[in-house]
Amino acid sequence: MNYKRIVFAAGLLVSGFFVLSGQPPEEKAAIFTAAQAEAGRVAFENTCGQCHTPTLTGRKGEPGEVPALTSLSPAYQKFIGPRGYVPPLAGPFFLSRWGSKTAAGLIARFEETIPYFPPAGMNDQTSVNITAYVLQANGATAGTTPLTRSTGALVRAVTR
Ligand code: HEC
Repeated sequence: MNYKRIVFAAGLLVSGFFVLSGQPPEEKAAIFTAAQAEAGRVAFENTCGQCHTPTLTGRKGEPGEVPALTSLSPAYQKFIGPRGYVPPLAGPFFLSRWGSKTAAGLIARFEETIPYFPPAGMNDQTSVNITAYVLQANGATAGTTPLTRSTGALVRAVTR
């Protein structure tokens, strides 16, 4: 390969790089509405968020976690236990557990938990709304299609 060819090949590589990196991120399906995620946020912060934290990052029993463990009700503190560990509901660890499951499966999982920690104003859509909020916290975007108990999309296909 002579010098001109090398320069030409390098030029192709560079322009290819710009074409690839200049593209918008791959479009992910939108499987819930903004209204569902907002109702879910309110319900979540009412109960779940006190333990799993409002940032959904969970607890490791370390100082500085908000809200402070000692500010929670005795029943909540007892449930969490002396280790102070509460699993995250957003981020890589959560997605490693839930990425290959369906949105409907996640709703069903939340449905098991909600009766123990019923948010104020709970109704039959609360688990669906909380799921929408949790998906949003994991990078999914809201759209015009409402989430339902039969939404079959995989969690990893809609989150980032
Ligand atoms: C009193 C504190 C507390 C509250 C309130 C609470 N959780 Fe939890 N949650 C925990 C703890 C602690 C665990 C881990 C328990 C275990 O694994 O046995 C957990 C586990 C979970 C898990 C399993 C996570 C995983 O990766 O396996 C989900 C899902 C969950 N909670 C959802 C919710 C939702 C939704 C709400 C609100 C309706 C809620 N939790 C309210 C403390 C709480």
